[in-house]
Amino acid sequence: MLRSLFLAAAGSARLERLVESTPAGSGVVRRFVAGSGADEALATTRELADDGLAVSLVHLGTGTETLEQAQAVRDEHVALLARLRAAGLTPAAEVSVKLSELGQRLDERVAFEHAHAICAAAAEAGTTVTLDAEDHTTTDATLETLLELRRDFPSTGAALQAYLRRTEGDCRELAVAGSRVRLCKGAYAEPESVAFQSPLDVDKSYVRCLNVLMSGEGYPMVATHDPRLIAIAEDRARWFDRSTGECEFQLLHGVRPEEQARLAAGGHTVRVYLPYGKQWFGYLMRRFAERPANVAYFAKAISAR
Ligand code: FDA
Repeated sequence: MLRSLFLAAAGSARLERLVESTPAGSGVVRRFVAGSGADEALATTRELADDGLAVSLVHLGTGTETLEQAQAVRDEHVALLARLRAAGLTPAAEVSVKLSELGQRLDERVAFEHAHAICAAAAEAGTTVTLDAEDHTTTDATLETLLELRRDFPSTGAALQAYLRRTEGDCRELAVAGSRVRLCKGAYAEPESVAFQSPLDVDKSYVRCLNVLMSGEGYPMVATHDPRLIAIAEDRARWFDRSTGECEFQLLHGVRPEEQARLAAGGHTVRVYLPYGKQWFGYLMRRFAERPANVAYFAKAISAR
């Protein structure tokens, strides 16, 4: 029930204003989201970099419905990369990109060209781009785009979702030299025909994929907050002799910060996935819907106003 409440709240402009207008509420926002604009994104990136953390910035878009919007999303990323470079925040900071925001559903070629322009801006800034994974109907197109982008920008990375039955095979294809793969569990509601449904089956798939990536030639990016999977990934990194710079851990901004610090102190590269943009409120509500334990934190902050 709490989950539905928070998902419903995601569309409430009134609640959004309430959260934003109180010092405590905006503190909650800042725990999970950099803010609504590039200035805040840069400031938070600087704080995280000062703490020894790498960052992947993700722009929270409105959902692209026109080619003009797709172009604006491209321009936002290109401008951000120039600012990250000017601020000396690359290569510690990279960007994550959703191809749907670049118009993938409207015109795959246009989305590719926009992604290419963003990769070129990233290369000029001395950093990289990772393609987010979206719902399963986009996986083939996203991986084709990845292969094409990697011809010009070999360090372009992509997220793979362990809940998809196909992903172990995709890991095998992508576990090649220079290939950066972010392994996450997967965040969309997917049918049984394409995705494992039970948490145990998803975790088992995650471990199989991890074994493929860690034993391969590429650069695994372990994106999970799950203590058991993190422990297994640390074990595999040791087993396959991967030292610092040969794999990394990724966690969402504000989630398990003590674990982020522990991994970094242990010599691992830790990258924080840092969202920013005007659509921060919906993102925040979805994080609460995902994990009811965060609700108490939220309620306490709001009632303290
Ligand atoms: P899960 O949610 O199953 O939790 C397992 C355990 O982790 C919990 O029992 C708890 O112990 C611990 N835990 C989880 N959340 C916690 C919290 N808030 N506080 C304390 N402990 C917590 N998805 C996608 O479809 N496409 C993508 O491109 C990406 N990209 C991405 C990047 C990064 C850096 C991350 C971390 C995640 C993604 N995801 C994603 C989201 C991912 O698919 C998944 O939905 C979430 O990470 C939640 O899954 P977990 O692996 O964290 O475990």
